[in-house]
Amino acid sequence: MDATTRIEQALASAIEAVAVPGCPPRLAEAVRHSVFPGGARVRPRLCLAVAAACGSSDYAAADAAAASIELLHCASLVHDDLPCFDDSPLRRGMPSVHRAFGEPLAVLAGDALIILAFEHLARSLATSPERLAPLLLTVSRSVGMPHGITAGQAWECEPRVSVEDYHRAKTGSLFAAATAAGAQVAGADADIWRVVGDRIGEAYQVADDLRDVAASAQEVGKPVGRDALLNRPSAAGELGIDGAIDRLRQLVKGAIEAIPPCPGQEKLAEVLMAESRHIMPKNLAQRAA
Ligand code: IPE
Ligand code: IPE
Ligand code: MG
Ligand code: MG
Repeated sequence: MDATTRIEQALASAIEAVAVPGCPPRLAEAVRHSVFPGGARVRPRLCLAVAAACGSSDYAAADAAAASIELLHCASLVHDDLPCFDDSPLRRGMPSVHRAFGEPLAVLAGDALIILAFEHLARSLATSPERLAPLLLTVSRSVGMPHGITAGQAWECEPRVSVEDYHRAKTGSLFAAATAAGAQVAGADADIWRVVGDRIGEAYQVADDLRDVAASAQEVGKPVGRDALLNRPSAAGELGIDGAIDRLRQLVKGAIEAIPPCPGQEKLAEVLMAESRHIMPKNLAQRAA
């Protein structure tokens, strides 16, 4: 089965285990709307790619970790779009969850997805607690405080933050969990792999900042020009377009250099290179080449 099918099936089975008769139907609907249809699914693909590169054949554990990370990502988007954060009417080319279901259900759908991420991991690995505990720690660290997504979003409420710290917490942390969890599933060293994810995640947010200034809303399926409007620290704002492209290039290079020796080292480096070309806004691809 290819990675995309595995990810979609794992997400569907996680949700179907809880969106059962007896669950408030509009909450179930809001949760499905938050997860399907998906976006790039870049974090779970990265998790599966690292597990495969490390030679793991434990597909069930990798799928569970990947799905749990994507559920947390979807939750973060639902909350990020709320009027009290980025106030976005559009996500993945559709109305954001609060626009489609109202604010109370958007808050609750985000909460429910966060809890489901841990529940799904616990349920999937119930028979191997010795593997479950380190995965739970990896995933928790990436979304909480002091350095997870919660902290990343909280930096928006502080008078000062460096773009790098902001990016690493709000985005890099979950990418770091994706590579660390992929390694853990394979019995490899999570800390070494965390560095790879941290750099790809930061690169991914720099690319997102570039799309915010250079892409169209139609291209990205969400409003653009928001970082300047909301006064968010942004790589494009601080470094300019060319500076941000340079930074992106350095980060991708650093991520590839950080891949430790493993059976799939070369193939993974190629995947990361291809991914880095893909995330660049189309009208900047030439400039970046
Ligand atoms: C959007 O993430 C938020 C960022 C951290 C840049 P994605 O660009 O991965 O969003 P989807 O899942 O593809 O919609
Ligand atoms: C979102 O960052 C990061 C999250 C943790 C949700 P952005 O606010 O830049 O992402 P978009 O542009 O809304 O997808
Ligand atoms: Mg935001
Ligand atoms: Mg946002």
